[in-house]
Amino acid sequence: MLDKIHILIPEVQDTSIKTKEDLEQFRIHYQGRKGVLAGLFEDFKTVPPAQKKETGRILNDLKMAIQARIDTFIQEAGTKEETPSTEFDLTRPVTYMEPGPRHPLSIVRNQIIEIFSRIGYTVAEDREIEDDWHNFTALNFPEEHPARDMQDTFFIEKNPDIALRTHTSSVQIRTMEQNQPPIRSIFPGRVFRNEAISARAHCIFHQVEGLYVDKDVSFRDLKQTLLYFAKEVFGEDTQIRLRPSYFPFTEPSGEMDVSCNICGGKGCNICKYTGWVEILGCGMVDPAVLENCNIDSEIYTGFAFGMGIERITMLKYQIKDLRLFFENDLRFLNQFRGII
Ligand code: DAH
Repeated sequence: MLDKIHILIPEVQDTSIKTKEDLEQFRIHYQGRKGVLAGLFEDFKTVPPAQKKETGRILNDLKMAIQARIDTFIQEAGTKEETPSTEFDLTRPVTYMEPGPRHPLSIVRNQIIEIFSRIGYTVAEDREIEDDWHNFTALNFPEEHPARDMQDTFFIEKNPDIALRTHTSSVQIRTMEQNQPPIRSIFPGRVFRNEAISARAHCIFHQVEGLYVDKDVSFRDLKQTLLYFAKEVFGEDTQIRLRPSYFPFTEPSGEMDVSCNICGGKGCNICKYTGWVEILGCGMVDPAVLENCNIDSEIYTGFAFGMGIERITMLKYQIKDLRLFFENDLRFLNQFRGII
């Protein structure tokens, strides 16, 4: 047994321990329940009494050598872990991270704002959580109108009704309540509708609403404003056409189509081979809406329009699936790099 221990001591001292895994193996091998030391202490029981003293001393030396090896490694590792701060070079240039490109919806929203600011429109924003008055009632929605249905609107509270606004027309009301004409503003913002998500629809989307109220504002002014806008967004050759429509808050109401900027009016699958694509709703503000906001409808008239930013962006950049706007896939977003 003595001979065995004499061999083991240098063996312990020479074992290379480089990693924490090495240390763990070393520990198990020598100090484990069934390890070298445990075996030797077991053997020690059978050592004749005359040799007990000498063997015990050597065995103890081995035990200490093992512990010393472990302690040395831990100490070295500890000081190693503290040193990296000295290797930290604060003068090194940082890794360049390219800033993200602007989102296509922001690009187009900013363009729309810019186009209308040039002809004197101010920009206003308001809340996304609206009461029934501003989202429906003041806009002349009859009590039984389907938009007031749970199926179309995300209600937060019922009686009195509080909902996520379904359109930015609510900001028309807030603006007219707070200001007397002349009013010439656009209202960009996020709107919410209880719709199944598909390539053409989403439950969250963006609109820009426009409002012009003053003395002698006519349908002709509306038409010229929209023609100017369409040419600015889609190009000088763009033509517009107005079709009669219905909205509770405008009378008369219309929908505006632009000549398809993809096929130039010849017909393609974007314009469903008609040469025209619908981009907005519009009309003359219903006198009842003006009166709801304490604006004298005998003196003032106005026009309003509302468009979906997603739709305009899809047409402008030929994007076929609306869901791409919300997925934040860098392969999609990076294509808009450089456009402000
Ligand atoms: N609020 C309408 C919508 O969300 C859009 C709209 C249509 C706004 C006609 C208007 C308008 O101001 O005159 O579908």
